Amino acid sequence: MKIQLTTDSPLALEADLLVIGTASTTKLSDDLEKIDRAMGGTLAELWKDEGFEAKNGQRVKLPARGRVKAKWLVVVGIGGKDAVADARTVAHAATKASSRQKSAAIVLPTVDAASVRAAAEALIGGAYEYGDYKTGDRKPKGGLKSAFLLGADKKDRALKQALTEGTVVAECTNLARDLVNAPPNDMHPIALADVFRTEAEKLGLKVTVFGKKELEKKGMELFLAVNRGSAIEPRMVHVAYEPEGATKKVAFVGKGLTFDSGGLCIKPPKSMDTMKCDMAGAAATIGIVLAAARLKLPVAVHGVIGCTENMTGAAAYRPGDVFKSLDGKTVEIINTDAEGRLVLADCLSWVRDELAPDLMIDHATLTGACMVALGNYRAGLFTADDDLATKYAKASEVADEKFWRMPLDEDLRSSLDSTIADLKHVGGAYGGSITAALFLREFVGKTPWMHLDIAGPSFLEGAHGRAPRGGTGFGVATGVRFLEALGAEG
Ligand code: BES
Ligand code: MN
Ligand code: ZN
Repeated sequence: MKIQLTTDSPLALEADLLVIGTASTTKLSDDLEKIDRAMGGTLAELWKDEGFEAKNGQRVKLPARGRVKAKWLVVVGIGGKDAVADARTVAHAATKASSRQKSAAIVLPTVDAASVRAAAEALIGGAYEYGDYKTGDRKPKGGLKSAFLLGADKKDRALKQALTEGTVVAECTNLARDLVNAPPNDMHPIALADVFRTEAEKLGLKVTVFGKKELEKKGMELFLAVNRGSAIEPRMVHVAYEPEGATKKVAFVGKGLTFDSGGLCIKPPKSMDTMKCDMAGAAATIGIVLAAARLKLPVAVHGVIGCTENMTGAAAYRPGDVFKSLDGKTVEIINTDAEGRLVLADCLSWVRDELAPDLMIDHATLTGACMVALGNYRAGLFTADDDLATKYAKASEVADEKFWRMPLDEDLRSSLDSTIADLKHVGGAYGGSITAALFLREFVGKTPWMHLDIAGPSFLEGAHGRAPRGGTGFGVATGVRFLEALGAEG
């Protein structure tokens, strides 16, 4: 989508849609007052007839018939208290107001950098539709192709920068959505690794791809155990964005299970049918690293994704097997469906030892238990670092994504003790997302670390708020905000 800033008058701008927000049906903004007058003062009657109460997100649409230059007028209800939230609401509504119209002129409730960025994110994200596998007439026509943000001077450098930021975040979020939505027969481990490599190389980033042989040489037995039942080779990809003068180094690690059947502890069909989403952590990682590089953030950002399927082939790993982690600890396998923590454990150890970052952050669709605890619109955040938790929570608020800090309860740690090996990889019946996090913690050593369990919000059965059905790209916006804030600390 092409988004332009313009100071043209809402009455005079040519577009398919003119979109404007209002917090009230009686007290109108100057712009809406002008538009209403141009339209012959019909809004009050229309609203009454249509039951429009200016409720958040509510919208009415009417033909302009030449009374303003745009073809259609769309009025959107907004809260009127939070300018950025209102910019998002109006922009998102613009993308949903029609499936045929191609251009929209949007009156920003408030014109400032934060609103421009929010509007750009909501426009590009709202126009997202996954149609790669539809053919002929069934292929989605694609919604808005261009948008104008009214009242924003295109020569204003801060606004232009905000437009770039919003565009990059939304495009990288949409990329993550595409990767999750792609079917697992095509988006297999090798394909996922190739996407990260190709996109990173386009930006001139350093890429290293490790295949099965290399993982064997390193001794990543936990990662390889998960891969045993699959006919497709695993991949670990490392991408490095290292801007000159960076004083901080953050490594993102992503769970890239392109399909999780559960392995021999096989999932029932109803739990399996969405398991192409089990690489959403890798997708978020890819989105964050690419966005950081495109925005030229002054922080070194590394991305490592561990890609494999979890299948039931003849060589599949079994409950009772014991494998040695890259870290040297032996792990007794309890349930082959708890595969993500095994892949992550070895990736985290590798990142800790080979990259020695100041901070490691993993994204993973790790546990159903996290969804039981927090619902499916909110991710779990685990870290021992209070300051980091606070900063990430701040970033998530600005990014409009929901996280909740979860405890790393020591009481549960003994549930990972094994009678025959150093560790079991699954704890007891309760606190499943916490014991999963405690297992990961065994492999991070002294490196500051945060684990984000995005099992719920990364994939939705139905659209919710601004998030589409299917892959949502959850985590990208917050990760970028966090890195921006970290870079601004100097
Ligand atoms: N990929 C799943 C977790 C998941 C569930 C993600 C639902 C998205 C939606 C993970 O590998 C898994 O199967 N976890 C098990 C762990 C259990 C066997 C200890 C779970 O949560 O049931
Ligand atoms: Mn699983
Ligand atoms: Zn899984």
